[in-house]
Amino acid sequence: MKHIVSIDQCTAEDITRILDRAELFEQEPDRQLLNGKVVATLFFEPSTRTRLSFETAVSRLGGRIIGFSDASTSSSTKGESLKDTISMVSNYADLIIMRHHLEGAARYASEVSRVPVVNAGDGANQHPSQTLLDLYSIRKTQGSLYDKTIAMVGDLKYGRTIHSLIEGMSHFRPRFIFVAPEELSLPEEYKQFCYDHRLPFIETKHFDEEVINNCDILYMTRVQRERFTDLEEYERVKDVYVLTNDMLADSRPNLRVLHPLPRVGEIAYDVDDNPKAYFIQQALNGLYTRQSIICEVLGIDVPN
Ligand code: CP
Repeated sequence: MKHIVSIDQCTAEDITRILDRAELFEQEPDRQLLNGKVVATLFFEPSTRTRLSFETAVSRLGGRIIGFSDASTSSSTKGESLKDTISMVSNYADLIIMRHHLEGAARYASEVSRVPVVNAGDGANQHPSQTLLDLYSIRKTQGSLYDKTIAMVGDLKYGRTIHSLIEGMSHFRPRFIFVAPEELSLPEEYKQFCYDHRLPFIETKHFDEEVINNCDILYMTRVQRERFTDLEEYERVKDVYVLTNDMLADSRPNLRVLHPLPRVGEIAYDVDDNPKAYFIQQALNGLYTRQSIICEVLGIDVPN
C-alpha cells in the first residue's frame, strides 16, 4: 500500500513518472479509471483549490466522493480521535485525502489507515501534492526541472508549500534565493537540508529587481495568518512584500510568477495580465497532477 505524506519520500524517478502521467491527463482529463472506487476527502482545515481539484480529479476519473469540507460537521467535535476517524473512514473508502492543522497528522493517519492516505497539507509541515503540481508547472514553463534559480518570497517560516518545494527541487540542481523578513525567515532545518544536499542559496530581506531579474521562477507566498499566535506580529509583517507589474519589466524572458494561492495582497492585480503571471494555470495543473497522484497510490495504469 502506498501513501504520499511527504515529498521527501519521492525520488527523482517517482517525480518524473507522476509528472509524465499528469501530462497524459492534461491531454485527456476524462477517463473512466476509478469506476467503483470511493475516495474520502477529509478537510479539517479550509481549502478551495486542493479539495476542489482533488474532487474534480475523482469525478473526471469516474469515482465517487465522500467526506467533509468543514470538520465542525464531523464527530471530531464530539471528541472522536483522529485514530478512530481514520479507522472508520477506511471502512468506507478506497483512498483518504486529508488536510489537518497538526504537523504529522497525515503520517499518523497513514499508520492507522487500511487504505492509502494522501497528505493535502499538515500544519506548517508539508503539502506534497502542491509540490508535485509546482514541479509540473516549472517543468512545463521552463522545459526542464534542472538548473533553475528559484526565488521564494514571503512567509518562509510557516509556508508548507515552501518547505515541500525545497525538498522536491533538491533532485534537480536548483539555486534558491530566500526573501523574507527576519520574523518569517526559513527555519534552520530547511537551511541545513540545503547544506546537506549542497544546494546553493542566498538569503535577503530585500525584495527588489536584483532578486526578480536573476531568477527563473518567482514563487510568491501569503503570510499565513492562521499560524500566528501573536496577531500583532502578523499585522506588522502581513504587507511586507507586494509584487507589482512594473517590477517585472527587466525580468528574464522565461520568468514565471507562481503562487500556491490564495493571495491576499502580495501580488497586485495589475500583474494578472502579464504573460509571466502563471498562478491561475498553475492551479489548473493541480487537477492533472492530482489525477496522476490518485492513480499512483491506487496502482492504476493509465494508457497513453
Ligand atoms: N494551494 C492551496 O493549498 O490552496 P487551498 O488552501 O485553497 O487548498
